[in-house]
Amino acid sequence: MHLAFSALALFALASACRSSREWDAEPLPPHPTRGMVVAEHELAAKIGVDILNDGGNAVDAAVATALALAVVYPEAGNLGGGGFALVVPEIGEPRALDFREVAPASTSLALYTDDRGRIVAERSLRGPLSVGVPGSPAGLWELEQTLGSKKFSFAELALPAIRLARDGFVVDARLARDLANPALRQRFGDDATANTIFYPNGVALREGERLRQPALADTLERLATDGPSAFYSGVNAARIVRALRLAAKSSDDRGDVPGTVSLDDLAHYQIEWREPLRGWFRGLEVISMPPPSSGGIILLETLGVLDGFPIDSERRRALAEHSATGRATCDSLGLDDRILHWWIEALRRAFVERATHLGDPKFTPVPLRELISADWIARTRVGIGEQATPDIASAVEPPHEGSNTTHLSVLDAQGNAVSLTTTLNSTFGSGTMVEDAGFILNDELDDFAFGSAANQFGLVGGEANALAPGKRPLSTMTPTIVRQSDRRVVLVIGSPGGPRIVTAVIGVMLRTLMLGQSLADAVRAPRFHQQWSPTSTDFESGWPAEVLGGLERRGHVLKRDVAPWGSVQAIRVGDDGEPEGATDPRNPGAALASRRGD
Ligand code: DON
Repeated sequence: MHLAFSALALFALASACRSSREWDAEPLPPHPTRGMVVAEHELAAKIGVDILNDGGNAVDAAVATALALAVVYPEAGNLGGGGFALVVPEIGEPRALDFREVAPASTSLALYTDDRGRIVAERSLRGPLSVGVPGSPAGLWELEQTLGSKKFSFAELALPAIRLARDGFVVDARLARDLANPALRQRFGDDATANTIFYPNGVALREGERLRQPALADTLERLATDGPSAFYSGVNAARIVRALRLAAKSSDDRGDVPGTVSLDDLAHYQIEWREPLRGWFRGLEVISMPPPSSGGIILLETLGVLDGFPIDSERRRALAEHSATGRATCDSLGLDDRILHWWIEALRRAFVERATHLGDPKFTPVPLRELISADWIARTRVGIGEQATPDIASAVEPPHEGSNTTHLSVLDAQGNAVSLTTTLNSTFGSGTMVEDAGFILNDELDDFAFGSAANQFGLVGGEANALAPGKRPLSTMTPTIVRQSDRRVVLVIGSPGGPRIVTAVIGVMLRTLMLGQSLADAVRAPRFHQQWSPTSTDFESGWPAEVLGGLERRGHVLKRDVAPWGSVQAIRVGDDGEPEGATDPRNPGAALASRRGD
């Protein structure tokens, strides 16, 4: 009787599941009231919103915005770099596009060492050996061909960027400041092409002057009409190879310089469509980037570990203690040293996993499922006690990074969302501008782990992220989209900032999804960053001194009042369907809404 009942119950459950799945597949998620584009430059965001207003979808707008950033934000926007795009369509499955750079076929570690076998850090950061095969032209083209609305041709989406390059635009304070920065200027060295464009008559362009980039306009135009082959073969490919040869000061004016991008490397570049990572946090589905980015794994691990700690009750207790004693042992949201301790330790462990296991999945089997499994997350949480565990770290000092990556978030009025992060790695990349083509080449190869040396962000890694021909270097870019169980998108988010990308994204997500802060407040709020190595945790100013003191009593080593970092560009959709956009006050661009949908 009991068994029969169970069988019946199971059968009922199974058919309920089946019918609810069928039912689920039918209704569309509720639409937002309008679309939105958030990006690090107003001119680029405006171009995206115009596309939305003209009937384009989020992918069309993201492609047009990214192309415009390659013109108006040359520090990070690019044709000569690479990136990742996450697309959550209104109908159908989320998709992740990898247009990361790859190492040239002729690369080898020996090219980065001196005659005593020591790594020469400079070689992966500047000049020809730092450059990976660019992915952005192929990536943006593929994105548009596969998921664009088809209401626009790629050429139409590129037209505003071409105009900005040809007619010029007014240099803003940020670009003027970056061009005048002696350290950044040094990056261009004696690169004649870049110097002519950015330093006419030897003087950096000033705010209010016009920057015209006719060669870049021509390159964009050829890409727009002929597609990626105009970039990866023929005249453009020859120009890239020549630029690298010049940068290498090679006396041979024909052959490829060993370790640099060749015609063959360019001809064989391939984008990869990847299965996005998906996890759950407080009843919301979190969709993010899989390897070769480490961003999604660190994000899901950290959120998973934190989700199991009694954060809400600890906040209530901390707030009650605060009002009873008047002591600022927590901030206004109830974040106290205990909660921050859990958070720091969760990050520390996720970054250990990054250094140990993560790399290009084509070369290294990445234990993806294990790393974000409930079992791993539970074991990690259990390992976190009341005191800091700095002993699992080495002590490499990460310098502070500039704004060399850029993120854009787009939502359209149908509810399609795109989260796209693209980079040259360092500000103005390798500093090599391709003559007669007008774009700067990346220095992404520094994202590989070179022996035990830390990269420019202080990140260390092992065999999984070792340099190899045709391999993609590990990234921390974290384009992310969060949606409800009815598939309505509630958050589109990402940031520049090297390893600080993922900690900035986690901070804003926790604040807005768990602590109930408005998106603007969550983006503005002070951040902290922990990446396993070094042992110390960096804090922006704005945290209560008593909370930081509490962390020190738990054994944490803190660096206080560190200069701000990251530049989160995000969209939050309220229960009423109204999108709220936030561009980070640390490096403001624009959050622009489209006209209301119907
Ligand atoms: O892919 C990565 O993780 C790095 N190349 C990103 C560099 C970066 O974000 C620097 N930005 N501010």
